[in-house]
Amino acid sequence: MSSRASLQKSLGIGLTLGVTLLWLMGVIASGLVAQHEMNEVFDSALEETAQRILPLAVTDILNRENRASNLRAPALKEHDEYLTYLVRDGEGNLLLQSHDANPGDFRSHPSEGFSNTPSHRIYGVSAVSETIYLEIAEPLAHRREAALEAGVALLLPLFLLIPVSFLGVWWIVRFTLRQVVEFQKSIESRGAGDLSPVATDRLPVEFEPIATAVNQLLERLHRALESERSFTANSAHELRTPLATALAKVQRLKGQMDGDPLKKTVIQIEDALRSLSTLSGKLLELAKAEGGGAIAQNPQNLVPILEMVVKDFASQAQGRIVLSLPDNAVDSFLDPDTFAILVRNLIENAIKHGDPAQLIEISMHDNGTLKVCNGGGIVSPAQLDLLRNRFVRSTTGASGSGLGLAIADAIAKGAGMTLHLRSPARERQDGFEAEINLRNRQ
Ligand SMILES: Nc1ncnc2c1ncn2[C@@H]1O[C@H](COP(=O)(O)OP(=O)(O)OP(=O)(O)O)[C@@H](O)[C@H]1O
Ligand SMILES: [Mg+2]
Repeated sequence: MSSRASLQKSLGIGLTLGVTLLWLMGVIASGLVAQHEMNEVFDSALEETAQRILPLAVTDILNRENRASNLRAPALKEHDEYLTYLVRDGEGNLLLQSHDANPGDFRSHPSEGFSNTPSHRIYGVSAVSETIYLEIAEPLAHRREAALEAGVALLLPLFLLIPVSFLGVWWIVRFTLRQVVEFQKSIESRGAGDLSPVATDRLPVEFEPIATAVNQLLERLHRALESERSFTANSAHELRTPLATALAKVQRLKGQMDGDPLKKTVIQIEDALRSLSTLSGKLLELAKAEGGGAIAQNPQNLVPILEMVVKDFASQAQGRIVLSLPDNAVDSFLDPDTFAILVRNLIENAIKHGDPAQLIEISMHDNGTLKVCNGGGIVSPAQLDLLRNRFVRSTTGASGSGLGLAIADAIAKGAGMTLHLRSPARERQDGFEAEINLRNRQ
């Protein structure tokens, strides 16, 4: 698994956690404020109630004939009491109580003002020169329940807020990054030959330096490749004439040296000059193949080109070539001259490196597949992978520079096609096979 984080995921999770945390802090702060305000309202209600009941209770007690009678105020209707009260004298003797009141909820001696017992909030008020005290009690649980309900009400939106915020952030990041994704795709989809600058105008500002750096890199790469190609092409081109002149002079010298013991050396020089001349020709082909231009404006039938190239090799192959052509034209965007270079290199290889006792099968199918197949020793898979590199050769008795397959591969890549190399050839135990589909372009 990749350890690199996705920007979309990190921002989605980070921002949602941030929003949740801030909301929780907001809930706690508003809960505390609400609790404080509720306490004030409850206290004021407690005070108000006590002061309303006190005159009634005092009148009731003073009008009694016997002070000890009627201790419990009757309930007019059956109900639960949130507020209970006791009326006591200064020593704490009970004079009157509400019907649900429990003296255990109050302190042993009455006093004025607000106070708390473990379970109740008490407010006391006195009358008749502090001989009669009325205390009113409210359960603390009642207040806690109210605070809890307010807290839960504030927390509930979180359950909706978390997924909505996550999806919202996810969508916004995705929407903002779509230009970056397009930028990435435009770089990815480029073939090796496309080094033109990538479009940067619609990218978010933060990504512009990256795009500029990529474009600068592409430009430097383009310049480096271009100078390498033009150097190869120029040197190969410049070498041609002096090589041809030297070869002609050596051949003339050879003709004048009948019976001379130095003739063998002159022949060796002639061979060396000839292979140098071939090498400069191949270098020129490689420079052209890597320089692009493998694609033609319009598709053209490549069957006649194949026939022509095969005919050129007829004398060299001494009747070993078996050519099978398609019934219909094979139209391809591959430039015909470039196609001729490709086929020439593949057929030359089959003649040079294949078993001279076996046939060379060259076939082109209606679906655009071209195959060049010859008998001979097997090239190991490890070597096979390297043969497309320049100057790489496998075990072979034939002379060469190791450029033929590099040229063929560069042409295929330049045209967006794939050159497949196989050894042993398909449906054979040995030999070598090169295959390319001239219609399939990536
Ligand atoms: N048809 C083939 N059969 C067997 N071996 C092959 C065949 N084609 C290529 N090879 C092996 O791959 C190597 C590279 O081929 P490539 O065409 O690149 O170079 P070359 O033929 O040796 O030299 P050049 O093509 O530059 O004259 C060859 O040296 C040979 O070992
Ligand atoms: Mg070759």
